[in-house]
Amino acid sequence: MTFREKTSAPADRSITSGGSRGNGTAKKAVWEYAPSAESTEHIQLRDRYDLFINGKWVKTRKYFPTINPATEEKIAEAAWASKVDVNRAVLAAEKAYNNVWSKTSPKERAKYIFRIARIMQEKAREFAVIETMDGGKPIKESKSVDVPLALAHFFYYAGWADKLKYAFPNQQFSSIGVVGQIIPWNFPLLMAAWKIAPALACGNTVVIKSAETTPLTLYKLAEVFQEAGLPDGVVNILSGAGDTGAAIVNHPKVKKIAFTGSTEVGKLIMRSVAGTSKKLTMELGGKAANIIMEDAPIDQAIEGIINGIYFNQGHVCCAGSRLFVQESIKQIVVKKLKHRLKSLRVGDPLDKNTDVGAINSKMQLKKITELVNSGVDEGCTLYQPECRLPDKGFWFKPSFFTNVAQSNRIAQEEIFGPVLSVLTFRTPKEAIEKANNTQYGLSAGIWTDKGSKIFKMVGAIKAGVVWSNTYNKFNPASPFGGYKESGFGREGGLQGLKEYLNF
Ligand code: NAI
Ligand code: MG
Repeated sequence: MTFREKTSAPADRSITSGGSRGNGTAKKAVWEYAPSAESTEHIQLRDRYDLFINGKWVKTRKYFPTINPATEEKIAEAAWASKVDVNRAVLAAEKAYNNVWSKTSPKERAKYIFRIARIMQEKAREFAVIETMDGGKPIKESKSVDVPLALAHFFYYAGWADKLKYAFPNQQFSSIGVVGQIIPWNFPLLMAAWKIAPALACGNTVVIKSAETTPLTLYKLAEVFQEAGLPDGVVNILSGAGDTGAAIVNHPKVKKIAFTGSTEVGKLIMRSVAGTSKKLTMELGGKAANIIMEDAPIDQAIEGIINGIYFNQGHVCCAGSRLFVQESIKQIVVKKLKHRLKSLRVGDPLDKNTDVGAINSKMQLKKITELVNSGVDEGCTLYQPECRLPDKGFWFKPSFFTNVAQSNRIAQEEIFGPVLSVLTFRTPKEAIEKANNTQYGLSAGIWTDKGSKIFKMVGAIKAGVVWSNTYNKFNPASPFGGYKESGFGREGGLQGLKEYLNF
């Protein structure tokens, strides 16, 4: 770290925190971080990824490029699975289920899952770098959240594989068969782990599809499965777009669908499986309330607000995107928030000092921009810190709105970007009413010094997860899932196992 007099924008780094826009007029002393780029030399990537079906790499007709959203450079090509490919994958999964996996003892299943976790652990750094390159998230997050949590899920569910009868005592249950899993682009490896680990522990076989912009870490996971000696066809990995996902959903031999993504696509999927016997779990959008009471430890709450909405550029289904501040402390909270925003470092996701990385795709940037413009048009007040964004890639400054009404689009719709809406309340009752005034119900946060307030409010808020005096904390043993249009079914914990068994 070097200290220097800031008179103009630095040439080496595109972003400085809290500085001027480089017009040469400001003479403010700022601490400047030296670049601290994570090495990419150790990673191994192919130029082109075929489909992973029945333990082999299978070619298809169409391929699409996956780019690094921070540089717009192509990283590799990935296969676009057709209906024929999906059928091939489902048949491979069915064969593996009938001939191998359903006959493998729970204790043996556990060994494979443990082995997968151990190999992932050995490759943790490579996974983190590739996740960051493919999706734009800061390396410090992929290293400390995505990868460790993903492998923790494999460890956790490996432990359950031979103890299912203790998990569900006095109940008759059986595995389901072939399960279809469709995941989004915000946490590719982690969402794959959430879905694959319990499915395998319960004795099912899998066909999983990655999202359009982030196919790479799932294919690295395929290499882990090969190294672990997982029998062919137990997990089949596909990439592609909505048509590939729809082919999985509609395949008659797929007995369960686990989906994480937008509420819009979730509804489409529910329509297509209506009238069939397919089981469903849906983890959809959110518009979480993060509630700060006047007796809260304010500096800690500020960190909770920052972590709640700017973590992973706000591409988080449970992001604390609606901030409810008790009126008496609004001024101080807004002042501290402005100050804290100035120190967020936006820029190269591979830099270890970066707090806010690249927006995942051009399309998502367009969506965020459109919603933010609607906020301005509707009369809300936008605050963004001064920072220069890199010329290439997709970026959005960490932002927040004040003067927000509950009816404004930015207070109702999922922005899925680094944009916070600040609202106020006077009494706990009003906070609860406002927090519940949404079509969603995935998560919420409460900040207060008083335990009794926490208990009262947690019970009254319609959300699957409510954090108190913290935010965005995850653990494989605790279930996660929504109310209302945020979906149904739970992932993680015992509840997550239940979704992969027939009772
Ligand atoms: P999306 O819901 O379209 O995509 C999620 C996954 O579903 C992808 O793998 C996609 O290929 C697949 N898919 C798309 N259409 C399908 C269909 N008809 N049948 C089966 N699978 C299908 O999400 P998208 O377009 O990437 O993002 C749009 C918005 O959705 C975001 O701006 C955000 O608001 C929200 N979103 C929410 C997520 C969450 O975790 N709650 C995750 C991703 C997006
Ligand atoms: Mg990509």
